[in-house]
Amino acid sequence: MATTSSTATHGDRRTVQRCAACAGTLDDRDARTSCPACGGLLELDAPLPIARGASLQARFDDRLRAAAPSYVAGRGATADHGAGTGASASARASGVWRFRELILPDATDAEIVSQPEGNTPLLHRPRVAAWAGVADLLLKHDGFNPTASFKDRGMTVALTQARRVGARAVACASTGNTSASLAAYAALAGIPGLVLVPAGNVALGKLSQTLAYGARTLLVRGDFDDCLRLVREGAERLGVYLVNSINPFRIAGQKSVALEILQQLAWDAPDWIVLPAGNLGNTSAVGAALRDALALGLIDRAPRVASVQAAGAAPFAAGFREAFATQRRVRAETLATAIRIGDPASWDRAVQVIRERDGVVIDVTDAEILEAKAAVDASGVGCEPASAASVAGVRRLVREGVIAPDARVVAILTGHVLKDPGLLLDYHRAGNEAPLANPPLEIDATLDALARVLDSVPTSSS
Ligand code: F0G
Repeated sequence: MATTSSTATHGDRRTVQRCAACAGTLDDRDARTSCPACGGLLELDAPLPIARGASLQARFDDRLRAAAPSYVAGRGATADHGAGTGASASARASGVWRFRELILPDATDAEIVSQPEGNTPLLHRPRVAAWAGVADLLLKHDGFNPTASFKDRGMTVALTQARRVGARAVACASTGNTSASLAAYAALAGIPGLVLVPAGNVALGKLSQTLAYGARTLLVRGDFDDCLRLVREGAERLGVYLVNSINPFRIAGQKSVALEILQQLAWDAPDWIVLPAGNLGNTSAVGAALRDALALGLIDRAPRVASVQAAGAAPFAAGFREAFATQRRVRAETLATAIRIGDPASWDRAVQVIRERDGVVIDVTDAEILEAKAAVDASGVGCEPASAASVAGVRRLVREGVIAPDARVVAILTGHVLKDPGLLLDYHRAGNEAPLANPPLEIDATLDALARVLDSVPTSSS
């Protein structure tokens, strides 16, 4: 079931939320986030724009060109940029709202809660490409978002929708990035935020951000799956609006990462998009965007999709090996805490994407993730551990002959290197035998000591 239906084409048709399981519909301003009749996942079913192909590409390209001056204005209010808030300027500069016809066509500028976000770089780093074994590897670095992860793409839409439904508070369960993003966008919207995270398993950068932006933060004695169950049970009873990625408005916003990639490549689709997978919201969103892009003639062929899980948290990869005969659950364990998820909520949506896009799902070990991360970090780009799963996945798929070495591959880096400083310091500490470990040296404050160290430093990077 499409996040944006490919059958709806009429401008006068209203946006609805539709249950993927029983096809029942809810009003687009209904604050429930699962089907009240059967409990199924909801999809946003909005009419597609009338414009097609080159004319729609030109519309999006014109907005991209016009975004730069608005971005400057977005830092402060100006008379022509909306009521002293800079809101419409931010919306114009956003890499999410640039594609608003495919995201949430009915939202008005006044409703939009935007930092702005998106517009993240597509990087070529020869060292990482060589490490992965594919020359034309591009890194879509979504760690360049305002709270340093891809979550901001969905959260701008979720908080816009929270405003539209008149939410009195917003809530989520999170492995850390969603909570940081919720906290920031809730602060921007002036709506109280509540987050549930697994005690002891949230990276330091993410927890610090969540506290700094002011969300009420609950450290739950349990794992992410416990947090999600609890917040799903509690949200409706407590009258708070749930903004986990089961919320279809989150998925709608996250579609923009794929649309940006296509636009950055002048609407010439890559052969592969490879991304890390946990709760499967992002896999679902990328697939929904590609579905729309094909239906609207923005591209004439779609990339294949590869979802990469951590070996200790890989129910979706296990499901793929048995052609998704059953929905698998595991008790998750991995160093990549962002994807330490055993019971992914967007399973059905993601299965559809893998089937439609001739996709593959694999898992990589924590050791492979750390090695990939060290390669990305050493290239001067950097990313958090879960993000490196995509690069580790590329290397594995090249070695297995699934990705051709001359393919054009885009790997999504979902979060910034500073998200998980604790793991970084452990990796680089003295005594770690990892090949790329770079331990700091403590020295006396003397020129002799400095000279001794400099004598031992290699002069060119290897
Ligand atoms: N990469 C990072 C950095 C993440 O934070 C997440 C998910 C994923 C990948 C996986 O994306 O869940 O859509 O398959 N983080 C969520 C959170 C669960 O709470 O921050 P997914």
